[in-house]
Amino acid sequence: MTKKVLIIGGCGFIGHNLAIFLKKKKFDVTIFDSLSINNYFSFKKDNLPNKNYYLKILKQRQDLIKKNKIKLIIGDARNYSIISKNVDTVKPNYLIHLAAVAHANISNKDPYSTFDNSMRTLENTLDACRSLKYLKRFIYLSSSMVYGNFKKKIVTEKEICDPLGIYASLKFGCEKLVTGYNQVFKLPYTIIRPSALYGERCVSGRVVQKFVEAAIKKQPLQMVGDGKEFLDFTYIDDLVEGIYLSMIKNKSLNNTFNITFGKSRSLIDLIKVINKNINNVKVKKIKRDKLIPFRGTLSVNKAKKLINYKPKYNIEKGIPKLIKWYENTKF
Ligand SMILES: NC(=O)c1ccc[n+]([C@@H]2O[C@H](COP(=O)([O-])OP(=O)(O)OC[C@H]3O[C@@H](n4cnc5c(N)ncnc54)[C@H](O)[C@@H]3O)[C@@H](O)[C@H]2O)c1
Repeated sequence: MTKKVLIIGGCGFIGHNLAIFLKKKKFDVTIFDSLSINNYFSFKKDNLPNKNYYLKILKQRQDLIKKNKIKLIIGDARNYSIISKNVDTVKPNYLIHLAAVAHANISNKDPYSTFDNSMRTLENTLDACRSLKYLKRFIYLSSSMVYGNFKKKIVTEKEICDPLGIYASLKFGCEKLVTGYNQVFKLPYTIIRPSALYGERCVSGRVVQKFVEAAIKKQPLQMVGDGKEFLDFTYIDDLVEGIYLSMIKNKSLNNTFNITFGKSRSLIDLIKVINKNINNVKVKKIKRDKLIPFRGTLSVNKAKKLINYKPKYNIEKGIPKLIKWYENTKF
């Protein structure tokens, strides 16, 4: 039997890649998105560097959604009646909540909009789903930022969360809201904590995207501090596979998982890999933002054991794949 999936915020970086993957796995996929946060309408309005290139990428996402026959509802998830009406119409077996202001720096500058588009949209969606008999799983995308500064080199899901700043605090609050809906309404959930994502058609301005784009343009890579900072760089295909497994495996029920590559690497390592693929990379050191926590490896042993998660992309494999994609899209 075909299973219905509704992805709130599904036109974003994670969402459109996930939607295409699930469609190929024969799910009946519907996306609900306002296209207004870090997406088509906001890029059209703002005057950002490389605006036309990013608009082309965002258009490419929409073309792929159409080509793969994925249904797209354009709407604002801050509006409860619109969300509940659409949940009632779609009748999803799986609901994946991705809508957010998904960037720590922007969130610290604009807490109001972050709360509204992240937590308000989540609460509306949880409430619309709270007593659906056919809902098998509510998947919430959290973040490695909930841990705050890593106190150990490797953190497991048992680590005490100590978030820093608006984005991370809201992510942690959102996790608690999801588990609260489980306690009160028995909502079946899975929470996923990704980290340092990269991959095709990302316009979010995270470190890998910024480094690769600067290297292609022969501009210096703006490296924070001395480059000895470690991040668990995760290729989008690994995350998408992890989300899929957490949907279909029984042992993910009412559980929280780190879904990353599972081994952190330094910024210097990342730069070396980029330099191997694009020669003569130049680096400029910049000051560290003290609200961004020091991170490291997220243990994925729980996901390996319970849902058979097997990440495939270290940076030696993922970065050349990404650079090839940039070459093909003529950045
Ligand atoms: N990309 C990462 O590195 C990363 C890492 C950790 C966690 N996450 C989390 O995963 C989720 C998705 O991240 P992403 O990178 O795909 O973000 P994104 O910014 O690319 O996509 C978010 C999407 O949500 C939509 N949206 C926002 N507010 C909405 C609203 N009110 N109504 C309808 N749609 C709305 C936007 O239009 C956008 O298409 C977020 O919750 C984010 O915090 C992302």
